[in-house]
Amino acid sequence: MTSYKIALLDGDGIGPEIMAEAVKILDLVAERNSVNFDLQHAPFGASAYFSHGHSFPEETKALCDEADAIIKGPIGLSHEESKKIPVDMQPERGALLPLRRRYDTFANFRPVYLPQGIAHFSPLKPEIIGEGIDFMIIRELVGGLYFGEKETGVNEQGKRFVNEALEYDEDQIERIARVAFETAQKRKKVLHSIHKSNVLKSSVLWNEVMEEVGKDFPDVEIKYILVDAAATYLCLNPGQFDVMVMENMFGDILSDQGGGILGSLGLMPSACVGPDKAYYEPSHGSAPDIAGQNIANPYSMIGSVAMMLEMSFGMEQESRNVWHAMQSVFAQGYTTPDLSSPDSEAKIISTDGFGDLVASELSKL
Ligand code: NAD
Ligand code: IPM
Ligand code: MN
Repeated sequence: MTSYKIALLDGDGIGPEIMAEAVKILDLVAERNSVNFDLQHAPFGASAYFSHGHSFPEETKALCDEADAIIKGPIGLSHEESKKIPVDMQPERGALLPLRRRYDTFANFRPVYLPQGIAHFSPLKPEIIGEGIDFMIIRELVGGLYFGEKETGVNEQGKRFVNEALEYDEDQIERIARVAFETAQKRKKVLHSIHKSNVLKSSVLWNEVMEEVGKDFPDVEIKYILVDAAATYLCLNPGQFDVMVMENMFGDILSDQGGGILGSLGLMPSACVGPDKAYYEPSHGSAPDIAGQNIANPYSMIGSVAMMLEMSFGMEQESRNVWHAMQSVFAQGYTTPDLSSPDSEAKIISTDGFGDLVASELSKL
């Protein structure tokens, strides 16, 4: 029997709640496909800092090193609670960025997908949505402002200052460009490079390299759009996009906007892929405002599992089945609270209620 070792990093806030639903689906997938998923939970995030003294403990690193794939729940605390942890140990700087760096997960796939059957979840007008929303944000994940040189101090005038660099070299841009062109080639063969070359030199180099790499993909049309304009087009005409590629910080912001046009961040799964290892996580955070109430939407977490089945284990059909099962739960009129409007007639379900219904739909496929 094929066996895969999977590290489960539950994380903080709603993390453990939505991870439990992902595990429910993983157990069912294992049974249906006669594969063995060796699931091992490990501490990660603010909860790990309080229980183990570090937000990315050594034992978690060792488990992740051995794992065939990693599934990660969101990490982080509310603005106020974060102050209980020293700045460099806070889970974003102390765990998440080190995880990305450790496995060099430079290619972050954030699908923004809402099929027509559930297009009513979007706050956009039906005439804007048309046939539904379906594009892929590819975010460079281990470079740029996030990983550049950082300096803080007091200058000669006695003023506190900060200096953080947006750094890329051509190899870093080339590898994400290749991933983006290859993805576009498999889809509609249109790639949008999102940039700010009217101000940032990093974007000038970014677009130069995009153009050079594009010569190897003559069947893909590349279009260049300034990041500020792209933010507007995402609301006014998202249908023009199919694959969008951008640097780390732009991708952070525009992918949350992607969640906004779908109707909730709870609809945003993601895959973070490196040369040797990939990890899977929702695009959103730990949602401290709703944690512990069994009302979070686990779609993003189960969708991340579906992405893992396809991208790490080649289980394309079962991945499609998981997506299909989630869509059919919504199509039957069920909704998690984040997606329901006050006057809606939808049947509101809890986090574990959604997971149970997805499992039941999946069993029928
Ligand atoms: P957030 O993404 O946690 O929440 C923003 C809003 O979206 C909240 O109203 C929340 O309730 C809602 N939301 C998010 N996911 C949802 C889901 N699955 N179902 C229903 N509603 C959902 O952003 P924030 O509040 O700005 O950040 C909270 C913490 O999360 C911060 O510490 C931040 O650093 C961290 N964070 C972590 C990750 C990650 O682990 N990859 C990503 C983003 C933010
Ligand atoms: C995300 C998050 C992270 C990021 C934070 C928590 C460091 O917002 O995955 O989008 O900015 O990359
Ligand atoms: Mn983000």
